[in-house]
Amino acid sequence: MPLDGVTPWTARRECAVSGVMEPMTVMNERASEERRFWDRFAPRYDRFMARFAGVYSQLGDRIQLELDSNDRVLEIATGTGLIALEISRYVSAVTAIDISEPMIQVARGKARSPNIKNVDFQVEDAYALSFEDEQFDVCLIVNALHVMQQPDVVLREARRVLKPAGRLIAPTYCHGQNGKSRVVSRLMGLFGFKVYSRFSIRSYSDALTANGFHITDLHVFAGTPPLACPMAEKQSH
Ligand SMILES: C[S@@+](CC[C@H](N)C(=O)[O-])C[C@H]1O[C@@H](n2cnc3c(N)ncnc32)[C@H](O)[C@@H]1O
Repeated sequence: MPLDGVTPWTARRECAVSGVMEPMTVMNERASEERRFWDRFAPRYDRFMARFAGVYSQLGDRIQLELDSNDRVLEIATGTGLIALEISRYVSAVTAIDISEPMIQVARGKARSPNIKNVDFQVEDAYALSFEDEQFDVCLIVNALHVMQQPDVVLREARRVLKPAGRLIAPTYCHGQNGKSRVVSRLMGLFGFKVYSRFSIRSYSDALTANGFHITDLHVFAGTPPLACPMAEKQSH
């Protein structure tokens, strides 16, 4: 569902038209709650993320190894496009969506200066993507499923738009892995950074499997919380 310039009320109507199963009032509250923090944080996001440059560089390297020059890639919850812009030179085309318009505006600005032409940034809700079934070779969801209230819905959408045997690369912080991670997670919540889904590495892997993905590789970046980086393939049923 494209959301550029959409108000909460029009978002409700759009959803009713596209026949999304979620109750519309709940969906609306959920969507505005999920994007509120990121709308405000957008101008500072890249500066904040500079401290994770080492991990993101390793992530970028891992992702790049999985890509092919003919791939059509969808990145869900791209934020300011850190990964989308990084991988664009290795693939045919990247469509990168995020629910937060301010985040997408930053991403579009960054794509303009080196004139990157094969990345299309769009404001969309990951729970109801506007794309036809089986459009993409690869779907990326980086550092995002844990900030979503219903990651299962998003994984099902990712599966729907992936081609048969399409690949999912979804590095996710596992805030429920141990007591220390849970404490850190709650402290982050006090600063407005809400983690809705506190996965352990096991429960995260189980969520991928339950939503129709076969995990082919799982690397874990140690930390509090740890970052689980699975490579997975869409299963046929
Ligand atoms: C921690 S940031 C990660 C951004 C980017 N993937 C990165 O690694 O830099 C989480 C992102 O998820 C986005 N997001 C949250 N809920 C979403 C939804 N329902 N649909 C699309 N994006 C969503 C937020 O707007 C935010 O940009």
